[in-house]
Amino acid sequence: MRIFSGIQPTGRKHLGNYIGAIRQYVAGQDRGEAIYCIVDLHAITVAYEPAVLRESVYDTAAILLGAGLDPNRCIFFRQSDVVEHPELCWLLSSVTSYGELNRMTQFKEKAGAQRDLVSGGLFFYPVLQAADVLAYRADEVPVGEDQRQHVELMRDVAERFNARFGETLVVPEVRVPEVGARIMDLQQPDRKMSTTGGTPQGTVYVLDAPDQVARKIRSSVTDSGTEVVRAPDKAGISNLIDIIAAVRGTAPEEIEREFDGSGYGAFKQAVADAVIEYLAPVRERYTELRSDEAGLERTLAEGAEKARAIASDTLRDVREAMGVGSGHEVRSGQ
Ligand code: AMP
Ligand code: TRP
Repeated sequence: MRIFSGIQPTGRKHLGNYIGAIRQYVAGQDRGEAIYCIVDLHAITVAYEPAVLRESVYDTAAILLGAGLDPNRCIFFRQSDVVEHPELCWLLSSVTSYGELNRMTQFKEKAGAQRDLVSGGLFFYPVLQAADVLAYRADEVPVGEDQRQHVELMRDVAERFNARFGETLVVPEVRVPEVGARIMDLQQPDRKMSTTGGTPQGTVYVLDAPDQVARKIRSSVTDSGTEVVRAPDKAGISNLIDIIAAVRGTAPEEIEREFDGSGYGAFKQAVADAVIEYLAPVRERYTELRSDEAGLERTLAEGAEKARAIASDTLRDVREAMGVGSGHEVRSGQ
């Protein structure tokens, strides 16, 4: 079983990223051959600062390693170090439906948020994401709920490729966590927690200090009731139940039982304590890892080399199947 996922480079990873995705990456190392990539080529599709981008890659690398990614048990690398990704992106564009790209909700959201330029790259983003996964013939893609549509698209791309050019690519399955696939903003619990679309007070960052975490959770928006149960009209409380259940690794029903009759104040305090305890070791390890940029660079470079060995194999098969190149290619490094 091969697992692949990608994550945007930013030092501002939040609790939604952690519970929806990062936690699954760590667990993936025990479930199969795990491959994870920091997608700096995706990050350039919206306005950005070149010098900040390079730093953000290190920030993200240190967060993921601090969370428990182990370069001896997974392949961990920077997307732009493996040129097969953009190459495969272009090759796959010929079996990607323009109409389907036009229906991507993340494109519409992000396009609407741009001030100066809606880049062609932003429109093509899901094709590059398809290339990320299909280059490794991955079986499974762990992501949060908001990425489901992108995985659906890459499945269509792989199926269309295989139908047109012969069985070459693996059609991957999405893996969304049962609890915590969509963590909501603490101030606006009808919107997902997000660095760009959410509220600052409603977003708990992995690197927030414990007192900031406590303040954000204690001041989270809830309803006028008192019962700690999940319900459609109790979006805030339902979100906090999901958060503490995910963090403790228990079922939401058990949380409801435990906090039956305890009131919102005590419940919020318990959520805050659990989240602080959960994030504290990550933050500590982050600080240590982030101070060694040369070490991070070495880890990413070693990961890229392993990644390239797999991706170049796939690219050779794809090029051959598509009639691109001489048809007598040998894998790089052989
Ligand atoms: P990004 O930082 O946009 O690259 O997202 C990294 C991962 O976090 C993706 O798999 C997303 O689906 C996931 N994710 C982002 N926001 C949330 C959220 N509010 N709840 C759960 N998962 C999320
Ligand atoms: N688009 C994803 C996000 O915003 C990041 C990503 C890029 C990704 N390539 C990927 C996720 C491949 C899974 C697989 O979160």
